[in-house]
Amino acid sequence: MQAFSVRHLLGIKDINPKDIETIFETADNFKDVLNRPIKKVPSLRDITIANIFFENSTRTRLSFELAEKRLSADTINFSSSNSSVKKGETLVDTVNNILAMKVDMVVMRHSSPGAPHFLSRHINANIINAGDGTHEHPTQALLDAYSIREKLGEVAGKKVAIIGDILHSRVALSNIFCLQKLGAEVMVCGPITLLPKHISSLGVKVELDVKKALQWCDVANVLRIQLERQQIKYFPSLREYSLYYGINKQLLDQLGKSIVIMHPGPINRGVELNSDVADSEHSIILHQVENGVAIRMAVLYLLAGTK
Ligand code: CP
Repeated sequence: MQAFSVRHLLGIKDINPKDIETIFETADNFKDVLNRPIKKVPSLRDITIANIFFENSTRTRLSFELAEKRLSADTINFSSSNSSVKKGETLVDTVNNILAMKVDMVVMRHSSPGAPHFLSRHINANIINAGDGTHEHPTQALLDAYSIREKLGEVAGKKVAIIGDILHSRVALSNIFCLQKLGAEVMVCGPITLLPKHISSLGVKVELDVKKALQWCDVANVLRIQLERQQIKYFPSLREYSLYYGINKQLLDQLGKSIVIMHPGPINRGVELNSDVADSEHSIILHQVENGVAIRMAVLYLLAGTK
């Protein structure tokens, strides 16, 4: 088994470029497995994994569950919406009760930034952050960079524009860390109200004009407007946002070059992305989802090896 520098995957900020390459090489092997008639390997037999989700998810949750099953792990699934959290049980009590059932690894999504970091100081199991509020979503960034590597051959030297609601996005921050560690140039683009004030201190270019961002980039990673995290109005209306920042076929046709379109999902069709782009030959959105399983298999396998 290859060396891995961390016991938990809490964020891309904490891992080094060699870790990321190790994850990608391991994911390459698991992708081969997933393309075989028998898609299962015994690598995590006798390992028990708890998927604990305090926030809604479709892709991440199903992708982790499938990755665990493909590795022959035993899994249990917890969703806060139908649990004793509703009766006032704390995060640490909830997780300690789950761990008392002899769980080895915890995959956690939580609406509070830092929740998995807090947990890692209180429990012994390996923890994987499946998205903590507006902070990080490390496996999403890994599968995004892996999908760029698959489509364009390598990530180093590529120009990636992250377009949309950067302020509320954990995907944006993890992508910035991951892409920079792999040698890509990163730009963020959106309305000024949806860009964090000091974002340029992360070494990214900042652009307010989506046409200029699309002209500059090789890859556009388009993000959703996260209305559920917005307590105030950051722009007049979704219609106006779509008018100024929505990406459609007409915009791409004007570029005179072909760019790759990504989106972590869920897509607000007709807001940040039109169907004539989301479902076009430019889009690798469903490849991202497919690659998510191999990436998550790789992360689970490598972290299990750090025990
Ligand atoms: N990309 C992503 O995190 O999607 P879900 O919220 O559906 O898991």
